[in-house]
Amino acid sequence: MRILYLNPGAQLGGAERVLLDSLASLRIAEPDWELHLISGELGPLLTEAQKLGVSVECVRFSESVAQLGSFGTDVSAALAASVRALPQLVANGAALKRRIRALRPDLIHTHGFKMHLLGAWLSDCPVVWHLHDFVTSRALMAKALQRSAGRVRGAIAVSESVAHDARKVFGRNLPIRTVLNAIDLKRFARIGPAADLNAKEGVVRVGMVGTFARWKGHETFLRALAHPRVRATNTQGYIIGGPVYRTANSQWTLDELRNRARSLDLNDRVTFTGFTAKPAEAMRALDIVVHASTEREPFGLVIAEAMACGRAVIAAKSGGAEELFRDGIDAIGTEPGDVDSLAEAIENLTAFAGRREFLGRSGAQTAAQNFDRQRLGPQIAEFYRQVLAQCESFTYTAEISSAA
Ligand code: GLC
Repeated sequence: MRILYLNPGAQLGGAERVLLDSLASLRIAEPDWELHLISGELGPLLTEAQKLGVSVECVRFSESVAQLGSFGTDVSAALAASVRALPQLVANGAALKRRIRALRPDLIHTHGFKMHLLGAWLSDCPVVWHLHDFVTSRALMAKALQRSAGRVRGAIAVSESVAHDARKVFGRNLPIRTVLNAIDLKRFARIGPAADLNAKEGVVRVGMVGTFARWKGHETFLRALAHPRVRATNTQGYIIGGPVYRTANSQWTLDELRNRARSLDLNDRVTFTGFTAKPAEAMRALDIVVHASTEREPFGLVIAEAMACGRAVIAAKSGGAEELFRDGIDAIGTEPGDVDSLAEAIENLTAFAGRREFLGRSGAQTAAQNFDRQRLGPQIAEFYRQVLAQCESFTYTAEISSAA
């Protein structure tokens, strides 16, 4: 069987890590399958996939197409940008379609909204969407996907929360299966090398690790660090990561966050390390890992990763993130966007090393039980088989008509 994966970007954000983990697990579960990946830009996703034995290529998206996708509920801005990008979208789509035709996959598995649409409209073979986001949080896209759902055979949702949201949009038209994200537990483990954060002796290191999407709550975190309750403790804050996506408007720049820290008078209390390609090493160097998303979190990979690394985790309770931990047992939950409750949690965990140790141990146990990527391959393969069993056999129509 030949599966073609389509992903818009090639930088390693959460969705790309999940794609890589699924590919790694599928290679083991189904060693005879041919896996091929096309992305809309060049980048580390392709290099990493290639190392797993996946054949890779880039069908490069034009800049205006790559930048689509950061307008959230602002329908008129999204519409205007889509209209502007239309000629490029058509050209990019045509190039992609040629490659799909040449590769002749048995099934296409798309990640990312743009590829969901392109996959649905460009291919003759069965298509499966992998939903990493809440469909309803992107008003225009939700409409476009709704119109396209009849052309695809099924969807995988990364959490029950995302599945529930998708069912509201697609109803019974689309079979939706939840496959909870998973991670590489060999990489994300309690024991292993740790980054050198250059911390002063005796400080408690508390940090966020991840991309700079605005809704990930960096500002909430900075304000919590500036809160008198946290100022009174011997914590050092860390912001580890950078803006990795090409979508305009949707991310903080490093300068913006630095200025925000300066205006909160946090100069010597927070360190910006920049992007790291080794998130596990960064997490192991922290005592407390903070997840602070201010909007509904579809899954929240960083929570699972930090639990697996045996860290004390503080996580904003919303969406799929709430499915990952039991509040007070394997992580501490806070209200999304609530600076006071985040400051209180940081103060509390800073004061009690034993509590951090307890959370770290139970978090690692939960991660071992629930987030091992080895289950991804079999779960996804089973879904493909189910989807394909319900399809009539399809043919490549262009070839038949040109042969006639
Ligand atoms: C997206 C979601 C995030 C999830 C990741 C992997 O980035 O926003 O919650 O963890 O995809 O599925």
